[in-house]
Amino acid sequence: MILVTGATGQFGSKAIEHLLNKEVNPSEISALVRDAGKAKSLIEKGIQIKEGDYTNYNSMVKAFQGIDKLLLVSSNDREAIENRTVHHKNAIKAAKEVGVKHIVYTSFVRKPGFEDSAIADFQNSHLETERYLKDSGINYTILQNGIYAEMILAFVGDKVADTKTILFPAGEGKASWVLRDELAEAAAHVMVTEGHKNKTYTLTNTESVDFKS
Ligand SMILES: NC(=O)c1ccc[n+]([C@@H]2O[C@H](COP(=O)([O-])OP(=O)(O)OC[C@H]3O[C@@H](n4cnc5c(N)ncnc54)[C@H](OP(=O)(O)O)[C@@H]3O)[C@@H](O)[C@H]2O)c1
Repeated sequence: MILVTGATGQFGSKAIEHLLNKEVNPSEISALVRDAGKAKSLIEKGIQIKEGDYTNYNSMVKAFQGIDKLLLVSSNDREAIENRTVHHKNAIKAAKEVGVKHIVYTSFVRKPGFEDSAIADFQNSHLETERYLKDSGINYTILQNGIYAEMILAFVGDKVADTKTILFPAGEGKASWVLRDELAEAAAHVMVTEGHKNKTYTLTNTESVDFKS
């Protein structure tokens, strides 16, 4: 039995779609959601809904019972980045307690020197989660996902035609944008195929581009 967390979010819901496209029987897929009221489309697909929250350890112990392979979609807590680390550690600890055999974790791509970057806090949270997961003794696969191409509009802003200014990536700063949908497909592939135990994959585009030219 597979369980996907963040299943009412954009990545988790896409990952479930790809699992179904790969002909996984819906009865073999569970979804961790905070609010079952938001999970109507998943219920209609025959996915088993488990209510749980990364902040509520016992809810995850209950939800993860009988799960072999867990797709742990990283938290989007917006209050403090440290909260995300606590969420991920709670989920990994709960999975360990109930004997989950393999965790696939959505991390973030990083490069040397990230400690000085504007997104160092996000990177450190993922790094700490990766270490905790490796130390847990559970089989893991770490997906160091590239930056979502779907976020370009949010970064560039909807006034760019007037302001003619792009603040991120600025100047000659480059990013290797990759579609969230394709990252979700890769995650689904890892969930249903063998050979990924204790591996880390960096999933980015083949080219990095800036917005200067
Ligand atoms: N690579 C990138 O460029 C990039 C960009 C942005 C974010 N990310 C990371 O990738 C993750 C997935 O992306 P996304 O686009 O799917 O984000 P998203 O649409 O915001 O989904 C995040 C999911 O996490 C769930 N969640 C948040 N806090 C939770 C908690 N305390 N307990 C249980 N579930 C919780 C949310 O639940 P609800 O549905 O109930 O809100 C939602 O389903 C994000 O959470 C973030 O960590 C990566």
